[in-house]
Amino acid sequence: MNKKNGVKILGTGSYFPKKVLTNVDLEKIVDTSDEWISTRTGIKERRIAEENEYTSDIAYKASIEALKTAEISPKQIDLILVATISPDMLFPSTACFLQKKLGSKLSTPAFDLSAACSGFIYGLTVARAFIESGLYKTILLVGAEELSKFVDWTDRNTCVLFGDGAGAMILSASKEEDDILSTYLEAEGAYSDLLFLPGGGTVNPVTTKTMDEKLHAIKMQGKEVFKAAVPKMAIAAKKALELSGKQLEDIKLFIPHQANIRIIEAVAKKLGISMDRVFVNIHKTGNISSATTITALDEAIKVNKVQKGDIIELVAFGGGFTSGAAIIRI
Ligand SMILES: CC(C)(COP(=O)(O)OP(=O)(O)OC[C@H]1O[C@@H](n2cnc3c(N)ncnc32)[C@H](O)[C@@H]1OP(=O)(O)O)[C@@H](O)C(=O)NCCC(=O)NCCS
Repeated sequence: MNKKNGVKILGTGSYFPKKVLTNVDLEKIVDTSDEWISTRTGIKERRIAEENEYTSDIAYKASIEALKTAEISPKQIDLILVATISPDMLFPSTACFLQKKLGSKLSTPAFDLSAACSGFIYGLTVARAFIESGLYKTILLVGAEELSKFVDWTDRNTCVLFGDGAGAMILSASKEEDDILSTYLEAEGAYSDLLFLPGGGTVNPVTTKTMDEKLHAIKMQGKEVFKAAVPKMAIAAKKALELSGKQLEDIKLFIPHQANIRIIEAVAKKLGISMDRVFVNIHKTGNISSATTITALDEAIKVNKVQKGDIIELVAFGGGFTSGAAIIRI
């Protein structure tokens, strides 16, 4: 591709629903314990959206903050991209609902992208290509999830793991700077039955039978997912680093997908990075799929864990399987 522009990251933002659900609260819902959840996953609490607070609502709040940081108005956005697997509806896209809430000009194109927990990194890759090609100049990229509305609250294997939240980033064309040094993506559809939501699509259209069988909730083979996540994330992290031309020492902070602290630690070990260079906030968020890396990045910026000009690596893995990594400069 003939690269016409570099990509500048103008700002980030995030939003979490107010309601906190702790492990102790979960002890009253399913047969579990704070001790089991904490030691197996690192999660202590997660945020849960209200019934009438939709994915596009939390995406909107994260977007407003990102727009403020970037010091631009919604009218300056010429593409809206939302990575999500928990959309407001099957269609229209959550990106279209977000556009309506932002009040941006009606013609702004908007679409959703589905790559599960790697969604934000897939989105970053798409946004980068659009900007580099010259097709769009200023893109609002969001990772937003309300997984609490897609879990079976009687299944302790899954309901303790997930949470709700949204993060946003504004990317813009630049002739001088390039803040996305590399991106790397992979998918392995052969493993699509290890982490999936079987109901509501063409395979299992909603019927009373699919409802009774709870096919509208996330199904997961936890151990198998765990085993695949560690090598896949390590491979993606290495590939993105190679593509960027940078060395491990150049990376100020690693921001991995927050699914399980043991996965994060195992990936760090495989890469030979000490945990003090790895950002972790899973204890208070749970797994928020496509929103984990961007909300963690936004928090790292807010708490001054990273400074302007620092190089950061994002890495993720999710249902599909999908995986990916990106080297960025903030
Ligand atoms: C789900 C996960 C935490 C389970 O941990 P684990 O170490 O594999 O669990 P174990 O196999 O040692 O234990 C499973 C046992 O715990 C039980 N268990 C499962 N969830 C439980 C819970 N919330 N509370 C108490 N016990 C639970 C199971 O029923 C099983 O019991 P059994 O042995 O009597 O059948 C772990 O496999 C994991 O995190 N996998 C990856 C999941 C993930 O990150 N998915 C998203 C990727 S993007």
